[in-house]
Formats: sequence, structure tokens, C-alpha cells
Amino acid sequence: MDLPDSVMITEVGPRDGLQNEPEVVSVDDKVRFIDLLSDCGFPEIEVTAFVSPKWVPQLADAADVLARITRRPGVTYSALVPNLEGWHRAADAGVDKVAVFTAASETFSQRNTNASIAETLTRFEPVIAAAHEAGCPVRGYVSCVVACPYEGPIAPEQVAAVIRSLGTIGVDEIDLGDTIGVAEPSDIESLLDAVGSLSAVEDLVLHLHDTQGRAVDCCTRAMERGVRRFDTSCAGLGGCPYAPGATGNLATEALVARCTELGVTTNIDPTALDAAATAIENSLGRSLPGRNAG
Ligand code: HMG
Ligand code: MG
Repeated sequence: MDLPDSVMITEVGPRDGLQNEPEVVSVDDKVRFIDLLSDCGFPEIEVTAFVSPKWVPQLADAADVLARITRRPGVTYSALVPNLEGWHRAADAGVDKVAVFTAASETFSQRNTNASIAETLTRFEPVIAAAHEAGCPVRGYVSCVVACPYEGPIAPEQVAAVIRSLGTIGVDEIDLGDTIGVAEPSDIESLLDAVGSLSAVEDLVLHLHDTQGRAVDCCTRAMERGVRRFDTSCAGLGGCPYAPGATGNLATEALVARCTELGVTTNIDPTALDAAATAIENSLGRSLPGRNAG
């Protein structure tokens, strides 16, 4: 197997995980969780989203959270923004990086952002211009890269078309989301075959939910194909409020354990990760599925 020496893991639990919890976690508890995650060795933590509080009340406190976390030098603190209003809020809060998000499925795009794919791209243009003017890098998420909860399987060519459009409007990196966690390793192969020529494979990010328990095998296959960047969430926290049935992101613990087995460096400290997982489990009052994934 031809594997990379190291991979880069972005922790997305505070955003993708907590956006899907039925109850709102307090700002104090979010800050504690993020501060503990800052001790784990992640180069980037996606801390929140500056989306409409009517759509995602769980993250209405985005500015407070960013104001109160202790920023560790060397860690990028990023957040989702869907439009210019989100960008202004995120910029005022001093984010290091923003992520815009669209989909390879028209129905998902409508349900998630009340806009067609084309309309989301139009919304992103002023966001990207403003972010770049401020020296802030922009990630571009594509959801439903394998399947959509409403439309079923999605052709890799549809994903490629959206990536091309995101490239045209100037995003700095592409993040491929298996929103409902159904990918098989062969789907990842097909996806990379279709999109690998549009962006250097080592710059692509893979964001897998783990509904079917195959996400870690998909990451391994992706690593064999040269992918080096992954999103995961602490203890498998997560989901998506607009993707019925989707469970959490791939657990950070599971990917770290797999990488250790394979001799691939992650620079994540499992003991520090365990402390973060305990803290968020205490906040939620329940144990999380990916807790012992390692
Ligand atoms: P809309 O209702 O069509 O927006 O929502 P609008 O422009 O008509 O505005 C309506 C109201 O929302 C107005 O307030 C705006 O000010 C306000 P009102 O006048 O009624 O009081 N508003 C905002 N407030 C705060 N921040 C903002 C903002 N924008 C408008 N940024 C919108 C359109 C995109 C805003 C909405 O659909 C939305 O917020 N959607 C976000 C949904 C979401 O967060 N989904 C989860 C994240 S994506 C995901 O999880 C997938 C991913 O993990 C990858 C994967 O797994 O595939 C990334
Ligand atoms: Mg997600």
C-alpha cells in the first residue's frame, strides 16, 4: 500500500456535531469543549456556523463562542458562512477561515439553504471577495457527493461540475461531504476518478459521515489514492439537521486509531482527545457512539 506519511485532521465536532443536537449546549460548555480540543494537536477546528439562527438555533451563539475561546497559536479557528450576512458576522467575530457550502444535489441545496446550487454560488461570490480582501481563506464544501437523502445516488460528474464552479469563483480548497454516510470505498474511488484532475488530490478534503460504519475504510482507500486531509468529529458527534437519518461524522478516535495502525502520523494526542470527549459527553448527558472507536 502506498500511504502518505502523515494526514491532516480538521475537528468539526463543535460545528457539525453540535448543530444537530436537539438541545442547545451552553456557551460555557462549548467554550470548554473547544478549549480542550485546542490541546489535542488539530491544525484546524471548525468551531461554529454564522447561519440563520432560525434555521440552526443550536449555533445562534456563534459570536459569543468565538469571543470566549482561548485561541492556541498555530490552530486555525474556522466557521461556516452561507451568505454575506454570515461573512460580516464571522469577520466581526475574528474567524481565521470561513467555509461556504453548497451541494451536488438540487433538492438538498434547497432544503439546506433555500437556494438552488446556482443561487448558492452567486451568494458566495461577494463572500469570497470580501474574505480574500480581509486575507481570510475560504473552504468550499460540496454536500451529497455520493448520495442525497432526497434524490438518492449522485453521479460523480455532478460533483465534478460543482467543483468546477467553486473553482471558478475562487474558493481556496474543496471539501467533499458524504452527508448521509453511505459511501463505500469503491464510491470514493469513482469520486476521485471524476474529480482528481480538477484539484490536486492531496489538497482535497474528505468529510465523511459514518451512518453505515464504513467511513474509516473509505478514508483508508482515499489515503491510498493520495488524499491527506480529513474532517472528523470528537467521539462521532454530529449529523446534519437537513439530512434525515444521517448520523455523526466519522469519529476522530476511529481515524486516529486507523492511522496509528497504518503508520500514518496524525499528531493528535489521544489522551487530550479523551478529555474533550468526556467533557462533551458530560454536557450532553449521554455517551457518544464513537467514544471507544479507537
Ligand atoms: P433564508 O430564510 O432564505 O434567508 O435562509 P433570507 O436571506 O431570506 O433571510 C431571512 C432571515 O434570516 C432574515 O432575518 C435574515 O436577516 C436572516 P429576518 O429579517 O427574518 O429577521 N439571516 C441571517 N441571520 C444570521 N446569519 C446569517 C443570516 N442569513 C440570513 N448568515 C440561509 C437562507 C442560507 C440563511 C438559511 O437557509 C441558513 O442559514 N441555512 C443554513 C443551514 C445549515 O446551517 N445547515 C447545516 C450546515 S451544512 C452541513 O452540515 C453539511 C456539511 O457538514 C458537509 C456535509 O456533511 O455534507 C458542511
Ligand atoms: Mg457534515
